[in-house]
Amino acid sequence: MKNKILVTGGAGYIGTHTCIALHEAGYEIVVYDNLSNSSREAINRVSNLIGQPIEFIEGDIRDAELLKKVFAAHDFFSVIHFAGLKAVGESVAKPLLYYNNNVSGTITLLQVMAEYDVKNLVFSSSATVYGDPETLPIDENSKRSCTNPYGQSKLAVEHILEDLAVSDDSWNLIPLRYFNPVGAHLSGQIGEDPNDIPNNLMPYISQVAVGKLNKLNIFGNDYPTVDGTGVRDFIHVTDLAQGHVAALNYLEQKISLNEYKNDQEYSVGFLPINLGTGKGTSVLELISTFSKVSGQAVPYQFASRRAGDIASCYASADKAKELLGWEAKLSIIDMCQDSWRWQRQSPNGYK
Ligand code: NAD
Ligand code: WQD
Repeated sequence: MKNKILVTGGAGYIGTHTCIALHEAGYEIVVYDNLSNSSREAINRVSNLIGQPIEFIEGDIRDAELLKKVFAAHDFFSVIHFAGLKAVGESVAKPLLYYNNNVSGTITLLQVMAEYDVKNLVFSSSATVYGDPETLPIDENSKRSCTNPYGQSKLAVEHILEDLAVSDDSWNLIPLRYFNPVGAHLSGQIGEDPNDIPNNLMPYISQVAVGKLNKLNIFGNDYPTVDGTGVRDFIHVTDLAQGHVAALNYLEQKISLNEYKNDQEYSVGFLPINLGTGKGTSVLELISTFSKVSGQAVPYQFASRRAGDIASCYASADKAKELLGWEAKLSIIDMCQDSWRWQRQSPNGYK
């Protein structure tokens, strides 16, 4: 059965939620993570939630020898590749670290995959590859351009995957371009656990609401948007996790047809797909919903625009619906409720 999946970065925020969704969908998972931005406790909690231990290997995607051992020991159908560093500001300060980890790491992983003839990959790309979009909603054919090393590292990997698909049509490569993932598992047991003061909006709001931070700075109130604040396509991490299951189902279906008919029409090649809701929500709208569902005040003040930010960003989610049969189901209210439950139950994250 084509059901064993290697999940790199599976101990992280999106990875843990996806592990649960994969398990529920009947996939067998092996998690490979160097714990640089996560913890064993996250793995323990996922194991508790699914009611069985997870196979976990502590390792780095740049460690080809260890990866080879893992591939030799398992018969993987596909890799879901979450492992990567993701802080935009840090990437500006430490570009070599980001290119080494995200780009060289992915090349090493792809080389080992090729050696073991595992040629199916779902990759964590990002709406950041679209830079400042010319038109909204953003579809997959929109121009790509990035201004920071984090975004460049995602774009570089996309280019590598494109070239790989051209070189050899037995590769099936799906970069999923996530918009703004937020929320947490319904149990409140797993969620986003930023190391320091959060950079992203939702964890910042949650920490203000729970009293760990005093006040939110809203970066800019003079954007050409509904209320002057930035507009984003927030997507619940549980919906995002289901998007990965849908991508694997799609791969399985195409590959079976291909094997059966021996027809390259069924090759997947390089197939980028947006995972977003298709709806934009402003910073002020998100704060207001969060306050209502949590019953907590979220004090804020307006501050100047953050360098590199754009006014509005939301997806065209049509391709995901058409090809994968996937669409986001959860609302902004769900996202706020679930982020709040996680924050309240685990005010110090996994620590
Ligand atoms: P995360 O930091 O919680 O998870 C990433 C995981 O990868 C962590 O557990 C980390 O320890 C691991 N990791 C990092 N470098 C590694 C390496 N060299 N070898 C092995 N493991 C390594 O981040 P996340 O929010 O779950 O994001 C997952 C992926 O999705 C990342 O690639 C990120 O760039 C991408 N992404 C995230 C967002 C977002 O806003 N969260 C948006 C778009 C894309
Ligand atoms: C959202 C809005 C801010 C914090 C980032 C990465 C992107 C992707 C997702 C990985 C903006 C405003 C924020 C705060 C604020 N990650 N804001 N006060 O910037 O859309 O995307 O995460 O791929 O690459 O760039 O998300 O949550 O940081 O910001 O006013 O304290 O909230 O200005 O308008 P962003 P975000």
